[in-house]
Amino acid sequence: MNIAARVDVEHLDGVRLHPKEPGRLSLCALPTPVERMTRLLEVRGLDPESHTLLVKRDDKTGLAVSGNKVRKLEYLAADALAQGCDTLVTQGAVQSNHCRATAAVAARLGLKSRLFLRGEKPTNVNGNLLLDELFGAECSFHDAQEYNGDRDALVQRVMDGVRDGGGKPYFIPTGGSVETGSWGYVRAMFELAEQLEAPFRGREVDVFCTVGSCGTHAGCVLGRALAGLDKWRVVGVPVAATSAKMAAWSRELVDDTVKQFGLGLSEADTPVEVLDGFIGPAYGVPTPEGTAAIRDAARHEALVLDPSYTGKTMAGVLHAMQSGFVRDGAVVVFIHTGGSFGLMGAAGNDTGWSA
Ligand SMILES: Cc1ncc(COP(=O)(O)O)c(C=O)c1O
Repeated sequence: MNIAARVDVEHLDGVRLHPKEPGRLSLCALPTPVERMTRLLEVRGLDPESHTLLVKRDDKTGLAVSGNKVRKLEYLAADALAQGCDTLVTQGAVQSNHCRATAAVAARLGLKSRLFLRGEKPTNVNGNLLLDELFGAECSFHDAQEYNGDRDALVQRVMDGVRDGGGKPYFIPTGGSVETGSWGYVRAMFELAEQLEAPFRGREVDVFCTVGSCGTHAGCVLGRALAGLDKWRVVGVPVAATSAKMAAWSRELVDDTVKQFGLGLSEADTPVEVLDGFIGPAYGVPTPEGTAAIRDAARHEALVLDPSYTGKTMAGVLHAMQSGFVRDGAVVVFIHTGGSFGLMGAAGNDTGWSA
């Protein structure tokens, strides 16, 4: 039996997947499973004999069902400990999956967490916010004007508050989508390549992921290049801003990570591709296509998606398979990045699931 008794000493320096990989803590249950979906294809008129849809179950990374964020936090928390910090500070919406994952990681490591959240404190505390509180996070709430205004000043204020209380803060920007955090999905791509090696050797693979704060997408792009997966393609489905903006942000994060870690990869080695048209009116606003994808995945595969991220992305994946955007004969992989607590929270309440 593998018992991780003291995660705080488990720096895995001996098993780096790349010489430039930074220190990491083992916080996730890896590898996450890869599951084949056939009934979902059938219900969408796609023949499972000629189409392959796999789901990489990163909603099962463990640690309070933390989805994609905990992969990034394996690296960021290691960096925080290496710097002797005792408080993880981060930001996001009231129902942020990333904030909840950060609070969970802090609890697991015996650190404190300090979250500053966009939005009012609801009278009914549920979903991710309920978990934030359970994990012992200290939360503050800020209206959109204050949160989106002078963010640097707000960050400084929160960091100073931690220092004034005798703590040593470690700041994690939105979604953990910074150079160190990108390694989470570099590692996920190596893991996926190993899992697909025997059943799908030599096949073309089209990987789809949600693009929110870009760390997952950037990591997958880098992982594809570093693992030498020339026949693979990585497609991000933007859900937080226009596709043009999100592609530019992913490009920037890929390039910054290449630079910071001296990875020696060019733009041509790391193509950033996005699939446009699935965000709908705005971030966090459910779309009919996303809602239909959530319903079909739940009813036909018992796969739980959410309205802000994975539902919209699955809508994009199914459309890509139906419209010929996916390469002929390619194995399609949807990375399930989690988010079910968002479904249970305020974000999921007005979608009419039982209709
Ligand atoms: C459930 C879920 N999926 C996907 C994403 C997007 O990941 P990233 O922020 O790395 O782009 C997020 C967060 O933004 C998320 O909470």
